[in-house]
Amino acid sequence: MLDSVIRGVIGKLAECQDIHVDDLVILLSASDAGILQDLHDWADKIRKKTLGDAVLLRGIIEISNRCNQSCQYCGLRKENRKIHRYRMAEEEILDVAKKIEACGISTVVLQSGEDLLSMDRVCALVENIKKETDLFVTLSIGERCYDDYRAFREAGADRYLLKHETASKTLFEALRPGSSYDNRRRCLLWLKELGYETGAGNLIGLPGQGVSDLAEDLLYMRNLRADMIGIGPFIAHPDTPLAGFPGGTGEMTLKVVSLARLLLPKANIPATTALGILEKDGRKRALQAGANVVMLDFTPEIYRRYYDIYPGKTRVVTEMDVYLNVLRGELESIGRTIGKDRPLETTRESAS
Ligand code: 5AD
Ligand code: SF4
Repeated sequence: MLDSVIRGVIGKLAECQDIHVDDLVILLSASDAGILQDLHDWADKIRKKTLGDAVLLRGIIEISNRCNQSCQYCGLRKENRKIHRYRMAEEEILDVAKKIEACGISTVVLQSGEDLLSMDRVCALVENIKKETDLFVTLSIGERCYDDYRAFREAGADRYLLKHETASKTLFEALRPGSSYDNRRRCLLWLKELGYETGAGNLIGLPGQGVSDLAEDLLYMRNLRADMIGIGPFIAHPDTPLAGFPGGTGEMTLKVVSLARLLLPKANIPATTALGILEKDGRKRALQAGANVVMLDFTPEIYRRYYDIYPGKTRVVTEMDVYLNVLRGELESIGRTIGKDRPLETTRESAS
């Protein structure tokens, strides 16, 4: 009986995408292995139909680990005095961007904590990368004012990632003291309005989070018409107030990935690093449950160990060319190829 209700909801989702929070709660509460496999298979089918078998690669450079925020879950929070803080020099960043391009990857993601990098500095960086490479540039440097976002866009930035973190106002305010729920949402609307390909995303398994919160996350991203969606499990960091709390599960993360794919068939959804750390084969499983993007960390080793958001994150990997071959093999084993970026398809008026 319950099975048929759940299958009914999956069918409804797959056909018309007109879905209510209660429908999502039913699916997010499902634990039967057969049902979950059905959900992932549906999402995989939609991914194949709308985007094909190509997996898009992105090269990330963690340009600064300085942060003026106090998020209770994050190792980069300003109160964590145990980590050494760094800011990469512009020439170093440019060199790494060129390396990313030389590896055949067409997007660089510049990521940092909420460092107060000046607008001019960010613009100069984006302009130089655009001048010296053919890369798409994604920024992921947090909340800024409208004029900054506009200047970055005019300097050539193509995309912006700003995870909304959680759609629950109560949780957001409890876990991000000093940060405004409304302002974050306003930033996401501005980014859309400015014509960025805009990325939102949430954490799975935050203390106090329920399935209805996750359902709200999904509806929020659908209403925003997010172009990119980062979904990752919360992993407790020992040097934060949430040390010792249980983290999100791989099962729940994969459910949310699949539902995101069903709600937003064309979105770029990465198989996130955090899921890969949590579960053996996590990345492969996400790619078979709706995801179509893999992010590769190109941050120089001297800095990477300090980008300590959650445990396991800073793990050193093998040389990138060796690693890319391993990845290619892994993708081939599941019938996937490495693809080229699609052009921008975002629409300014699409956020509702
Ligand atoms: N576990 C998983 N992801 C985390 N992030 C921050 N802290 C954690 C954690 N403990 C994610 C947030 C943020 C990004 C920088 O890292 O979603 O957007
Ligand atoms: Fe800073 Fe982002 Fe971490 Fe919050 S989640 S402390 S804003 S890096």
